[in-house]
Amino acid sequence: MAAKLLKGAEVAKEIREQIKAEVDELKDKHGVTPGLVTILVGEDPASQSYVRAKNKTAKALGYNSTQDTQPVDLPEADLLALVEKYNNDPNCHGILVQLPLPKHINDKKVLNAISPDKDVDGFHPVNVGRLMVGEPLFLPCTPFGIQELLSRSGQPVEGAEVVVVGRSNIVGKPIAVMLMQKGPAANATVTVVHTRTKDVAFHTKRADIVIVAAGVPEYIKGDMIKEGAVIIDVGVNEVGKTADGKRILKGDVAFDECFEKAAAITPVPGGVGPMTITMLMKNTLQAAKFFAGVS
Ligand code: GUN
Repeated sequence: MAAKLLKGAEVAKEIREQIKAEVDELKDKHGVTPGLVTILVGEDPASQSYVRAKNKTAKALGYNSTQDTQPVDLPEADLLALVEKYNNDPNCHGILVQLPLPKHINDKKVLNAISPDKDVDGFHPVNVGRLMVGEPLFLPCTPFGIQELLSRSGQPVEGAEVVVVGRSNIVGKPIAVMLMQKGPAANATVTVVHTRTKDVAFHTKRADIVIVAAGVPEYIKGDMIKEGAVIIDVGVNEVGKTADGKRILKGDVAFDECFEKAAAITPVPGGVGPMTITMLMKNTLQAAKFFAGVS
């Protein structure tokens, strides 16, 4: 059996069309244009490419989108001051500080400085806490995108055995919490495995849905999943360059092996990535609506 491809790029396009209509209405009826600021510190090529994609999408949807690029040796105090400036800027509704930050900067301190009402990444402890108690304001974009992709492609989540591979604050922990909550595209039984798990395959082999955010290219092999599983690959690993200098990307899942066995699988690229960016747009629109007092 060959798997159904869960094409995030196509689902994302559909969602962006809905967002565009809402943006136009917010502009026409309330005179508010959603404003997104992305802050990039340094010149990491992967981060540059992600931030560029976020700004390009925001502009295409008619947002005011500003990329604020800072030198790699920017003092932490200056970054905190910059965040504070955007916290107080009424034209900016969403602030995103691209991670990872250079080592001399304490990322927790920076994320805590972003106003929770402008925290479109959903990383502020207030927003993490809201998610935990089932009263989210902003859902973190990658988990939000995964849940939307499962839901919009008709994959049953309720009652499913879900195994999440990886326990990061950005993906692993929040997706585990979201899928075990009461509610639509949730109510799953969730297990989280990580680098200290004794037998990862024992868990992944019995999962109906495997969500992989391990950061290791092709970590999940065909013999680690069960026949008919749904595989969500969050990994984006650069494994080399083409002759003309383009990045060669591989996911955290050995695609060909798992494609043969799975019922459905996300490709890399074109799977989770476009959904992440689209959910950032959704969160930023939401932030602008809060600002405008529109529910
Ligand atoms: N780095 C990798 N993923 C993300 C993300 O979703 N948001 C931010 N701010 N940085 C990231």
